[in-house]
Amino acid sequence: MEEKKPFQIGDIVMANRVVLAPMAGVSNVAFRLTVKEFGAGLVYAEMISDKGLILRNKKTLDMLYIDEREKPIALQIFGGEKETLVEAAKFVDQHTNADIIDINMGCPVNKIIKCEAGAKWLLNPDKVYEMVAAVVDAVEKPVTVKMRIGWDDEHIFAVENAQAIERAGGSAVAVHGRTRVQMYEGKANWEIIRQVKENVNIPVIGNGDVETPQDAKRMLDETGVDAVMIGRAALGNPWMIYQTVQYLETGELKPEPSVQEKIDVCLLHFDRLIKLKGEFVAVREMRKHAAWYLKGIRGNGIIRNAINQVETAEELRAILNNVVEQSREQQEREMHVV
Ligand SMILES: Cc1cc2nc3c(=O)[nH]c(=O)nc-3n(C[C@H](O)[C@H](O)[C@H](O)COP(=O)(O)O)c2cc1C
Repeated sequence: MEEKKPFQIGDIVMANRVVLAPMAGVSNVAFRLTVKEFGAGLVYAEMISDKGLILRNKKTLDMLYIDEREKPIALQIFGGEKETLVEAAKFVDQHTNADIIDINMGCPVNKIIKCEAGAKWLLNPDKVYEMVAAVVDAVEKPVTVKMRIGWDDEHIFAVENAQAIERAGGSAVAVHGRTRVQMYEGKANWEIIRQVKENVNIPVIGNGDVETPQDAKRMLDETGVDAVMIGRAALGNPWMIYQTVQYLETGELKPEPSVQEKIDVCLLHFDRLIKLKGEFVAVREMRKHAAWYLKGIRGNGIIRNAINQVETAEELRAILNNVVEQSREQQEREMHVV
């Protein structure tokens, strides 16, 4: 296989080039650890508000929790002003065992943009430089940035912004190949990601529309990036991470999981979520995850409806266990027919 230098950010050397994306409302420790066990080389936590950290908001502080088994990990912060961003970064630097501090410069959501955070900075490489330099100066841990390629089609400063990040002392940049205006529409532009890689010396992580292990290989080959970041394809599907790691290492495509395997991992994820957030919140958050895990399973529409009504962990577990039972019976029936 290819002889390329290992994927490294600062002093941290990753075991492979497959990275779990930060996803708000998803990438908490319960999900990250589950994905990590499927071999992710690096995991990103969901974005954390600088103001929440500074105000010592309990929910925000809880988001800093890291399990040793999921390392290496990047904690991502967002904010609109230099002072608060720096203060939040210092807090993460001194009070967490995160390996990397990541700054969010890609979030397209209006709530975030209104406070000048997220993708808004992408219009101004000088601002990008100023923010990153201030954070880098204030902390010991490596600082990275996750950004979109630009604001809209007329304002794509991906290369300039990545160069600003590099000059400011940033240790890596992750690039989602869409503009802010695109939100999640259209296709991710990998050509711009390639241009970024060509024009900086820090590691570049490519992101956007990696849906299969083959996509991951194609992104690495076509853009030359140091690693691929996977978001939506890993929802309810940590096997995607395992299959990608395996495919990149051996060229072999591992089979899809059985229904039993899917439900077992879903239940493990659920137990972790209960430990993290308590039963009430976990049951409600798990509804969307369960729907993702059930994707592709026969009759999943009816099961999803039932899941959306559950109130207790016991009810949810019973439905999920029943899915395995039904699929087993279905298989037996099919064997008889044959
Ligand atoms: C539910 C959800 C939440 C997200 N939250 C964040 C976030 O907190 N921080 C961030 O930088 N990007 C966030 N993103 C963007 C993803 O990290 C990623 O850039 C995007 O989904 C494109 O990658 P994909 O095509 O592999 O999904 C989020 C995406 C989704 C779907």
